Amino acid sequence: MGRARADVDLRTTIGSVHLPNPVMTAAGTAGHGAELAGHLDLAALGAHVVKSLSADPWPGNASPRVTAAGAGMLNAVGLQGPGVAAWLADDLPALAGVRVVASIWGRSVDEYRRAAEAVAAAGERVVAVEINLSCPNLEGRRGIFAHDPDRAAEVVAAVAVCARPRWAKLSANTDRIVEVARAVHAAGADAVTVANTLLGMVLDRRTCRPVLAAGGGGYSGPPIHPVAVRAVYDVHAALPELPIVGVGGVVDGWTAAELLAAGAQAVQVGTASFADPRAPRRVLDDLQRWLIGHGVRSLDEFIGCAHRADARPGGPGRG
Ligand SMILES: Cc1cc2nc3c(=O)[nH]c(=O)nc-3n(C[C@H](O)[C@H](O)[C@H](O)COP(=O)(O)O)c2cc1C
Repeated sequence: MGRARADVDLRTTIGSVHLPNPVMTAAGTAGHGAELAGHLDLAALGAHVVKSLSADPWPGNASPRVTAAGAGMLNAVGLQGPGVAAWLADDLPALAGVRVVASIWGRSVDEYRRAAEAVAAAGERVVAVEINLSCPNLEGRRGIFAHDPDRAAEVVAAVAVCARPRWAKLSANTDRIVEVARAVHAAGADAVTVANTLLGMVLDRRTCRPVLAAGGGGYSGPPIHPVAVRAVYDVHAALPELPIVGVGGVVDGWTAAELLAAGAQAVQVGTASFADPRAPRRVLDDLQRWLIGHGVRSLDEFIGCAHRADARPGGPGRG
């Protein structure tokens, strides 16, 4: 008999959602449906998070909508989408066998509620609903939902009609992220996704005007990774019982492991997919190698290890 191959149990649990591994796509970076299916097996990922959907079709912003920005990327796509009903009819059927997370958005509590109501009609393939809270609240111009604990909680409560686990996607553009996490958890969120893009702007060096038609945009990719690690760490430290999905600048096994060590149960891969559409699968394989190489036998024992005194990956005596 040959020597047993070292292995690691990659299964993870986000509230009531059980996944075979912790790597997902990130909303808005992998299409509405099976767009990346020619590059990677979406069913092999922990889950596939689709681009945020509103109750009604929405055209998004004028072009240009994306630009390189240092080692990162700036986007103001503006949440273009077909609306939930068209998505259910045209995109979801192509995702047979895939664990789908439907991301929803709105500009008022009622718009979020309507999107959630429409998602309720999806089959059991939709395992959770991620609530993109980084949207301006147009009711009385009350700022961004994700920056306001009370408004964010109102949205989370209103979307209970989706009849699915609710993951509230937070913003690191505020020093109130822990307060917002606490409020959405109390309002019924089963998990938080930490975090969305950071507010940024790039000027054209010839005209000195903003490159993106919308002016500013959301900054993503490797430069925001330390911000995501800090946000995940802070939320986990304050609310250890609240499951976290970490996102921001994940490009390889170690950057994924870093978010898990900070306290996330799973991670999402976003901007890296634009350079390499196979990135989520590559990150998954690299994470597995990294964990095995550091003596970790199960993801469960590794998650949150940055908060423990014996912070060596495989625990005392290993790693
Ligand atoms: C082009 C683009 C579009 C995005 N669209 C969405 C979206 O529709 N909904 C959402 O919640 N986040 C959206 N995001 C944010 C990502 O899901 C992710 O939170 C962020 O980019 C940080 O992760 P990353 O550094 O791995 O890209 C988008 C990001 C990019 C780059």
